[in-house]
Amino acid sequence: MKVRRTYTRYANMSDGRKRGADLNSRIAIVNSNDTLPSQAKAALYILNRAVAAVRNGIIIADAQQPDYPIIYCNPAFEEITGYSQAEILGRNCRFLQGPATDPTVTVQIRDALQNGRECRVVLKNYRKDGTPFWNELTISPVRDDAGRLTHFVGIQNDITARKEAEEAQQETVQRLQEAYQQAIVYAQELKGEILERRRAEAALRENEGRLHSVVENALDGIITIDEQGLIDSFNPAAERIFGYSAAEVIGQNVKLLMPEPYHSQHDSYLANYRQTGQPKIIGVGREVTGRRKDGSTFPLDLAVSEFSLARRRMFIGLVRDLTRRRQLETQLRQAQKMEAIGRLAGGIAHDFNNILTVILGQTEFLLNHLAAADLRTEVEQISEAAQQAASLTHQLLAFSRQQPLNAQTLNLNEVIGDMEKMLTRLIGERINLVTRLSPAPAWIKIDPGQIQQVIMNLVINARDAMPQGGQLTLETDLADLAGSDLFQSLGLAPGPYVLLTITDTGIGMDVETQMHIFEPFFTTKDIGRGTGLGLSTTYAIIQQNRGYISVESQLGHGSTFKVYLPQLPMKMEPAQANLSVLLPSGNETILLIEDEVNVRLVTRKYLQKQGYTVLEANCAQEALQICRQQNPQVNLVITDVILPDMSGPELGERLRQSYPLLKILYISGYANDIQQQQGSLDHNPLFLQKPFSSEILARKVREALDTPGPQSTP
Ligand SMILES: Cc1cc2nc3c(=O)[nH]c(=O)nc-3n(C[C@H](O)[C@H](O)[C@H](O)COP(=O)(O)O)c2cc1C
Repeated sequence: MKVRRTYTRYANMSDGRKRGADLNSRIAIVNSNDTLPSQAKAALYILNRAVAAVRNGIIIADAQQPDYPIIYCNPAFEEITGYSQAEILGRNCRFLQGPATDPTVTVQIRDALQNGRECRVVLKNYRKDGTPFWNELTISPVRDDAGRLTHFVGIQNDITARKEAEEAQQETVQRLQEAYQQAIVYAQELKGEILERRRAEAALRENEGRLHSVVENALDGIITIDEQGLIDSFNPAAERIFGYSAAEVIGQNVKLLMPEPYHSQHDSYLANYRQTGQPKIIGVGREVTGRRKDGSTFPLDLAVSEFSLARRRMFIGLVRDLTRRRQLETQLRQAQKMEAIGRLAGGIAHDFNNILTVILGQTEFLLNHLAAADLRTEVEQISEAAQQAASLTHQLLAFSRQQPLNAQTLNLNEVIGDMEKMLTRLIGERINLVTRLSPAPAWIKIDPGQIQQVIMNLVINARDAMPQGGQLTLETDLADLAGSDLFQSLGLAPGPYVLLTITDTGIGMDVETQMHIFEPFFTTKDIGRGTGLGLSTTYAIIQQNRGYISVESQLGHGSTFKVYLPQLPMKMEPAQANLSVLLPSGNETILLIEDEVNVRLVTRKYLQKQGYTVLEANCAQEALQICRQQNPQVNLVITDVILPDMSGPELGERLRQSYPLLKILYISGYANDIQQQQGSLDHNPLFLQKPFSSEILARKVREALDTPGPQSTP
């Protein structure tokens, strides 16, 4: 078979798109008429029909001509591209290409054609009307029997629909991918936001927890109320301070926590603030009075501020209980007052006691020498008055803690038992005295005079609180309050205490009075009836003995005084033997040195009455002179602690040089004399406080003389 290259013959064909046009009619076939056997002709015919019938565009190009001109296209090509065969014959197929044709693909085609290879590509082509279509193109080389390249056959497959579907799909995939990417970005952002939110929430929670524990553990009460004054929150400190549980007060009006008149005024305060914004209740450091659940009132420091919660106006109150601070302030004030009074008391007591020694001594003499009827009553009254004065001085000294102490181990129950008769007389018939003493002995170590004075003072106080009569109860108890708050806050030593409780059913006291009751010169009694020193002396004595006194009282409901004194585990010293009626006497020689003439005279009289020989001197030098000149046999020296020219202890020392076995008895107006001389005094000096009675002097002198050996020397 030989193909003739006379294509132009066919260029004039009018209807190139007609299906079924045969190859023969388009391409001149050599020997088409005669030389082909009829079988081959039939086969060719069938092939012609097939090529014309396929839906793929088919192009045949001459491979031996430059630029591969088209020599044939089938009707499907015409249908696909819109070009007629006549229009394209002799042209290269690149006219189908356009702006969106991929140049790399055309390079690929060219490369294949040049090398006589088959190529299979997909590229964008353009129809005659300019519309694009996707062309799946296969170009195959055709060779003759000798293997020479003669033609290229191109087969087009219009895959626009598929491509578009693919593109649409791709676009969808692309869009999905973009959406997916976007979603991932969103998800990450969201995750970030969630993390951030979680962090913020955790921080919030932590902050909340912190605030909660601050509020829960604050020592100050924290109370929040709304605009109406209703309690919204109440922390544990507030519960402790007011005695209410949070559950009891939440939702209640805050005025519940205030005594009158604030209770009634509070609503109008709050209303006024709401209307005018005048911060009458708002502020820092306002001292007000609070009311506990049990009705008791107490001073408190209140600071109120405003805040808003969920758009609601709220108030927050910080509350501090000032009770303890007030107590401490009172104690400090009292201590300062006591110190001042103490100094004053100590100052006057010395002279005063000298005077009283003389008055008491001389009245005693008068009474001993006056005939029964002669002015005895008057002298007795002088003596009584002087004794009262002595007792007052004694109180002053006890109060200023300058009273010489003679602490002994005592059973408080016995002390009360011994005093009961006297106390019954003291309180009168209208008052019923009840004693409830602890079954076990209540051992304490105290000067007997002091504890008697404490009991007397408290009983007199109770009596005066019950002018219409009533009941006075004296109780003793043993209390080991080592772990109690009371003892910790008062700074008392832990351990067992004896508790003396004195309760009356009298008129009672308001809080103000209770706060001042132990202060010196504070008295609720009519002028002239009380010294105002009774309770402060009591207080001083108890403090001096490392104890504590408290008072509980309510107006109209009587008072209870509680006295705590350190308890001794058992009796450490034997009780003193009862004083015998007969006064001890002697015939020893006593050197008496006292610069107060009258005191010296009275003392001499006392001593001579008991049989002693008395040598007198008014100062230390005189005493030394007597000893030098007369060289008397002196058994005892009685000297004032303070002498005009030398101290008593110094003199004692000097005399001891001549009389090594000499006993010395010091006398003084107040214990300060002794304390001031501590450096030069014997460790355990014999000491007698002025004013003294003849009886006391007689016993002390005998005690001094009978003590074996000299006193220890400094
Ligand atoms: C038989 C045959 C059919 C071809 N059919 C196409 C066709 O349908 N579309 C097309 O873009 N290129 C077709 N080409 C390719 C181009 O005619 C041309 O060879 C190609 O663009 C590379 O050459 P160039 O770089 O000189 O343009 C065909 C080539 C031959 C030989």
